Order: sequence, then C-alpha cells, then structure tokens
Amino acid sequence: MAPHPTAHPDVALNLALAVIASSTAPLLLLDDDLTLIAASASFCRSFQVDPASLAGRALGQLGSGEWAVPQLVSLLKATAAGYAEVEGYEIDLNRADRETRRLVLNAKKLDYDSPENVRLLVSVSDVTDARIAEKLKDDMLKEKAVLLQELQHRVANSLQIIASVLLQSARKVQSDETRNHLRDAHQRVMSVAALQQQLAASKVGDVELRPYFTALCASIGASMIRDHNQTTLDVSVDDSVTKADVSVSLGLIVTELVINALKHAFPADRGGRIKVDYHSHGPNWVLSVTDDGVGMPAVTTDAKPGLGTNIVQALTAQLRAVVRVADANPGTAVTIAHTQIAAVRNSATADRAL
Ligand SMILES: Nc1ncnc2c1ncn2[C@@H]1O[C@H](COP(=O)(O)OP(=O)(O)OP(=O)(O)O)[C@@H](O)[C@H]1O
Ligand SMILES: [Mg+2]
Repeated sequence: MAPHPTAHPDVALNLALAVIASSTAPLLLLDDDLTLIAASASFCRSFQVDPASLAGRALGQLGSGEWAVPQLVSLLKATAAGYAEVEGYEIDLNRADRETRRLVLNAKKLDYDSPENVRLLVSVSDVTDARIAEKLKDDMLKEKAVLLQELQHRVANSLQIIASVLLQSARKVQSDETRNHLRDAHQRVMSVAALQQQLAASKVGDVELRPYFTALCASIGASMIRDHNQTTLDVSVDDSVTKADVSVSLGLIVTELVINALKHAFPADRGGRIKVDYHSHGPNWVLSVTDDGVGMPAVTTDAKPGLGTNIVQALTAQLRAVVRVADANPGTAVTIAHTQIAAVRNSATADRAL
C-alpha cells in the first residue's frame, strides 16, 4: 500500500507508537523477527515488564524469558510471513514465583508502508480471573442442580409417606363415606408424588407428559380399578414437555377427571373405557378425559359440584384454559383447551358441575 500522502514517515511512526503506548489494552508491536518496537503501558503493567528495557529486545527475552513459548513464536513468525493468523490463541504464561495466567492472544500483520517493513500488532488479554469466575459459576450451578434433585427426591418420598398414611387411615375407618374421601385424598397426593418422581428424574425441571400421565394413570388404576378386564384406562399423549408448575396442574386435573369417571360413570359394576388424551400444537394444547359410561346426570341439580369441580375449575383458570363438558354418547367427554385467546372466555364457562 502506498504511504499516506500527507504524513511524514517519522510523524506516522511516532503517532503509531504513541497510540500503542497509551492504549488501555495490553498491546505489542513487533517486527518480523519478533523484536519489540513498542508495548502499551498496560502490557508492561499487567505483565510486570520494565518499559525502559523494551526497545530492541526480542519477544522471547521479555521478563525472564516466559514469552519464549515455542509454539507461539512459530505461529507469530508464520503470521509475519503471511502464512497464518493468530486469533483467540490461548497460552499459559508461567513465571517463577507468580501464579500462571491464562492469556488469549490475537495477532495481525499490519498493512503498512512497504512489504519489507513487516509489523505485527499483538493484543493480549488475561482471562484467568474470568475463567475462574466462569468455573465457579458452573460449579455453583451444578451444585444447585444436585441440591434441587435431592430436594425433589425428598419431596417425592414425603408425599408417598403422606399418601400411605392416608391409605392406612382409609382401611381403618368404619364409615364408607370417610373411607372414600380418604382414598380420594390419597390419590390426589399420589398424583403430585408421581410428578415429583418425574421431576427428580429430569435434569432441567421440565416434565415429559407421556411418561408422567402414564405413571399417574397406572397409579390411579392400580388403586381404583377392581377388574382390569372390565374397566380400562388408556393414555394417549404426544411428545409434549411442560414446565413443572404446568405439569402439576395438568396432573391434578387428570386425577380429578379420571377419579370422576371411575366413581360416577360406571355404577353397579358396569365396566367401560376411559381415555386420557393430550395433544399440543405450539402454545395451544387440548387435554381430554372421555368415558363411555352413563353420562352426566340429566338433571343438573343431581350433578352437585364437589371438590373435583372446584379443583378442575381453579387449575384450568390458572392455566388460562377453558373447560367443556360434553355428552360423548355414550358417556362424558371433559375437554380442557388452552388457546392463546381463550383466557378471556374462561371465567364465563364451566360454571356448572363437571
Ligand atoms: N364422568 C362422569 N360421569 C358421570 N357423572 C359424572 C362424571 N363426572 C362428574 N360427574 C357428576 O358430576 C358431579 C360433580 O363432580 P365433582 O367431581 O365436582 O364432585 P364429586 O366427584 O361428587 O366429589 P369430589 O370430587 O369432591 O370427590 C358428580 O357427583 C357426578 O354426579
Ligand atoms: Mg370428583
């Protein structure tokens, strides 16, 4: 490249040296022999080099020779010759009586004056502290994840203990009504325990709905279906993954609706099929529990809303979804749908019992 038309060579060189010397970043200007032409004050400060002793020294002679790293020297020489580029090259700077520093180097051959006058501008950043901080953060995150998993295991264990106490109480009480209440309470606790187990197995705190709903329904079926040839409970779920708080709500809704179907749809030992279905598309999803039982009582006053209706309505509202109860001819289909615009209509619907 032709020299700048107005700058006298000495003026240009002095200006370049002044710019490098005053740079706040550690910088070196070298010739093709890797002899120092200039170094920034911040380089001298950061690497304890006496600025007065610099001029005319080879890079390898800086300090006590700690910069004479053979790989770096050959890479810089190749860069000076135009064969290589030094970009984000990492070295450990080892000095006696000082801790090793991790450095990231970049070197550029300057497009300067004539081809014989090769100049290399080398920038050096010390990333030791940043790397230590990064590692510390990584370690803390790992530790937190381990603690969280441990906590989830403990919560899952405690929930199972509570559930088993409820079941034991259900076996002991005389009144059928109380026994049924205790069984339902057991099932509700178990639905949260099943979720906790899924969470303990997941690394990121998200829950895969298929294994969760499958385990949940297996647990409800095991405790509430007497004859599995007569009554079946099928689960059909896509590959959806949801956050823990959404999963816990969906799991409790499934629990209530499946318990309802098992308790109300098949009276007098009548058998049937219950199907739990969940599918999502982007942010929209539909959960349905369908049975082919006797259907909801024709007289609405006979379908008195119990705890189940309240739980389902509250959780549905929390999920910004809408409940619909339809006649499945035969049986009942309860559908919970979340669409982006559905939330507004939510409170207006489903004010009757399930
Ligand atoms: N799948 C169903 N088939 C037939 N009837 C149902 C079905 N689901 C609900 N019902 C009717 O709706 C009523 C209200 O249900 P809800 O879950 O609110 O209360 P519950 O099941 O009676 O009591 P709880 O849920 O507090 O144990 C039920 O009593 C039942 O008559
Ligand atoms: Mg119920």
